Amino acid sequence: MNIFLIGFMGAGKSTIAKQFAKTHGKEVVEMDERIAKSNGMSISEIFETRGEAYFREEETKLLNDLSSKKDVIVSCGGGVAMRKENVDIMKQSGTIVLLSAEPKTILKRVENEHDRPLLENNKTIEHIQELMEARKPFYESAADVVVVTDGKSASTICEEIFKKI
Ligand code: S3P
Repeated sequence: MNIFLIGFMGAGKSTIAKQFAKTHGKEVVEMDERIAKSNGMSISEIFETRGEAYFREEETKLLNDLSSKKDVIVSCGGGVAMRKENVDIMKQSGTIVLLSAEPKTILKRVENEHDRPLLENNKTIEHIQELMEARKPFYESAADVVVVTDGKSASTICEEIFKKI
């Protein structure tokens, strides 16, 4: 069974996908990394030179490619669940797990990280809250399972996912 991890930037999707893949014998796919590699540039560079709309098309294309897989855990980009088409593709080929976290947890996790064009110029709790509020209904309606990540270790989160799916 495929697992798609969705949720806000900094919710822990990449870390959890890697750990879950290791402990439960799945292949891990990091969407941002794949898209950056196939375009030969960073996510920020893609946004700058080709635009966000191009990036969103790349996400949908990659999800379509992944839908023929049987046993992958996918760390989705934070915007993937905003498109109904993407949600339909994921639902047809696996289970969607939402990793959630409080804005203050997110801020702590993204503070010193780069290559997130949507936060690059405004890493404040207010901006994160605002963006998160707008996305919450999309995340929640897409999710088959929700796991709260605040204050939990990666192994606890992985076990929770395993039990719930
Ligand atoms: C985005 C999240 C990023 C990346 C891009 C857009 C978003 O991925 O795909 O910067 O729209 O939330 P992460 O959630 O892995 O940071």
